[in-house]
Amino acid sequence: MLERPLILTGFMGSGKSSVGRVLARRLGCPFTDLDAEIVAAAGRSINDIFARDGEQAFRDMESECLELVINRLPAVIATGGGVVIADRNRSRMRTLGIVVNLGVSLPQVMKRLHGATDRPLFAGSDAANSVKLLMDDRKQFYADADIRIDTDGKSVEDVAAEILRFLEELRA
Ligand code: S3P
Repeated sequence: MLERPLILTGFMGSGKSSVGRVLARRLGCPFTDLDAEIVAAAGRSINDIFARDGEQAFRDMESECLELVINRLPAVIATGGGVVIADRNRSRMRTLGIVVNLGVSLPQVMKRLHGATDRPLFAGSDAANSVKLLMDDRKQFYADADIRIDTDGKSVEDVAAEILRFLEELRA
């Protein structure tokens, strides 16, 4: 049983939601997808929030929803890739949860997100360049985690198994 929420961070396409679902099943606890919580609370899609209200409005909703879900226990929480930008979010996640960062390379992101239309920050003909800039900017924030796991070349099951081993070590 988890005593603190297990929080997955990582760039778009790092597999947070897929790994989170597997982990929640294995741990026998509920799975929460922060993006889905925001969409449910706002009654609008993420694309629509970005397009009509702008990124900052989305970030404010993201922080509010994080505060709600981080207090539910037990839980496995998959966050959106940009949750780590705000100092307060990182500090709340580190204080209240166990933060697992899923690392992913630029080529993998491009492969996994190929054709995606539901991510406003992954769009346009120059997506590879903007993704690279975003990844570079966020590197320092993703490092703020209890453990970092590289996901390149690994299956969802492999990554989940690595996290479960880490949780066992924490308990030992
Ligand atoms: C974002 C990542 C998305 C979503 C939004 C912004 C980001 O979540 O929160 O489009 O800033 O990296 P995923 O990481 O689940 O794709």
